[in-house]
Amino acid sequence: MRVLGIESSCDETGLALYDTERGLLAHALHSQIALHAEYGGVVPELASRDHIRRLIPLMREVLRRADCVLQDIDVVAYTQGPGLAGALLVGAAFAEGLAISLEKPVLPVHHLEGHLLSPLLAVGAPEFPFVALLVSGGHTQLMAVAGVGRYERLGETQDDAAGEAFDKTAKLLGLPYPGGPALSRLARSGRPGVFDLPCPMLDSGDFNFSFAGLKTAVSTRVRKEGARADARFRTDIAHAFQEAVVKVLTQKSFAALRHAGMRRLVVAGGVGANERLRQSLDAAAQERGCRVYYPTLEFCTDNGAMIAFAAALRLQSGVEAARPAGVFAIKPRWPLDDLPCGVGDEKNITKTVDSADKARHNLSSSLL
Ligand code: KG4
Ligand code: ZN
Repeated sequence: MRVLGIESSCDETGLALYDTERGLLAHALHSQIALHAEYGGVVPELASRDHIRRLIPLMREVLRRADCVLQDIDVVAYTQGPGLAGALLVGAAFAEGLAISLEKPVLPVHHLEGHLLSPLLAVGAPEFPFVALLVSGGHTQLMAVAGVGRYERLGETQDDAAGEAFDKTAKLLGLPYPGGPALSRLARSGRPGVFDLPCPMLDSGDFNFSFAGLKTAVSTRVRKEGARADARFRTDIAHAFQEAVVKVLTQKSFAALRHAGMRRLVVAGGVGANERLRQSLDAAAQERGCRVYYPTLEFCTDNGAMIAFAAALRLQSGVEAARPAGVFAIKPRWPLDDLPCGVGDEKNITKTVDSADKARHNLSSSLL
């Protein structure tokens, strides 16, 4: 079975074709970084319009790379949420329209489930169960994962997400959007121990996080330094910031593993690309006889492959794709542990269908 995956929840348009027999056939991605860079962050309206422009050319590119035609697609999967409402609507409208024209079923996918399962696309993928650390621009969560669709949230951020904290702190240091990769490059040459920044909620005794205070601590020091904030200052404080985030993420992840009685940690989401975080998690895992799994770097940030793949796994776990209804039920806010498990989870499925009905939007075909 061939599943087309469509990702459009934020500032990347990603499409991919996944074959349940042969694996990932092809994927294509367009990043809107250049489009939003001059505004220092994602402008939702511009994001939506750009998704509209990119979807059809990217789909053609994926089919060409996979040496397939439209009729080879068996299921159209798309990111239903969470994300920017307008951006999600573009993907949902495109997916529904395509499915109607091909007379094929659709399968909505949870964006974070895509991230969470993306390490399973890599060679040497982990087996269930595992603890997943989801660290993206919009979310920071620790989940106990028993199988596809069986997710229990252990903890999450109480304010900013880790990626958001990276981005906001980078902005304070005058780095371009998106700040995470730029800040981590800057931090490489920073001197350890120059700044003593707080490690929020390190000893809170639970698996929750808080990063807003850390960003504020950097902001206070930047303001105090004023015009004297030279390159040395910026590299040292970038280093201290990254160390604080990495320390909290590492300590809480291993506490969660201990709590769950598990030895496998899966890291997903954009911040999972951070070299220093990987180094710290790998070192801690080695000490404790655990193992950490990451998606390949290209699938750390948003992409279509993770959506096609998550949909394929859900189909294999017994979830059925539905006939396209021609109406779009996007879910800009959608907790991951609110997902139906698949077969045998009638209550949860009903709950999701109800909330989908409530969120249903009629969209005129003029959008495309
Ligand atoms: O998963 P993702 O592509 O989008 C969301 O679903 O949010 O994650 C994007 C986030 C951004 O905040 C970006 O700054 C951060 O991931 N990021 C990084 C690195 N690469 C991306 N943060 C720290 N270090 C990196 N190397
Ligand atoms: Zn994401």
